[in-house]
Amino acid sequence: MKRSEINAQICQAIDFLAEHQYLLPPFATWMPEEWQRAGTECREIVECSLGWDITDFGSGDFASVGLLLITLRNGRKDQPGKTYAEKIMVVREGQVTPTHFHSDKMEDIINRGGGNLMIRLWNATPDDGLSDEPVTVSVDGVLRTVEAGGIVRLTPGESICLTQRLYHRFWGEDGAGTVLVGEVSSVNDDTCDNRFYDEVGRFPAIEEDEAPLRLLCNEYLRFAPSLVPS
Ligand SMILES: [Fe+2]
Repeated sequence: MKRSEINAQICQAIDFLAEHQYLLPPFATWMPEEWQRAGTECREIVECSLGWDITDFGSGDFASVGLLLITLRNGRKDQPGKTYAEKIMVVREGQVTPTHFHSDKMEDIINRGGGNLMIRLWNATPDDGLSDEPVTVSVDGVLRTVEAGGIVRLTPGESICLTQRLYHRFWGEDGAGTVLVGEVSSVNDDTCDNRFYDEVGRFPAIEEDEAPLRLLCNEYLRFAPSLVPS
């Protein structure tokens, strides 16, 4: 992805979140120069990968296949302490997050406002295929069963609990507007816990056609070496 597109998408996301009165922690709006002045007191942000994350999953077409999110809190699997995570995501109409499951993470996906979120579901077979068995999920504490590949539509305020090894694919419903999507989960580890049904890229290669306005969660140390203990 081009840095100019990443900058523009993050600026639009900040505006969209503000429209929905979704207030962000200070690190969400720190400029690269502020990161460069920061020290090891910010280590938790770096080690737990808090902050902005954008991907086109290698599609080259972010509007069609892509996701923009910010991780607000997270723990580490290799350390005791925080066992939970929270994200907020911006999902546009028709913008797909490809089919995947999590091996360890259990997550509630929450429509926090805007349009409607469409989620297609399959159970995973033992060899990580798509099962043709029906899927039973909890939607705000009420069990619902859909056919394999069936869709659950979340309107604002609704949420779904996605258990481990439950394949899911989601997008914003056409004509309903951009969706503000929350995620409350166990610890998140994007380096090894996501099993995508089709091969996809996760963290995009970035073409530096302009300077970054905000840093992404996987590039603090590149732009701000002061965050590393000397
Ligand atoms: Fe997921």
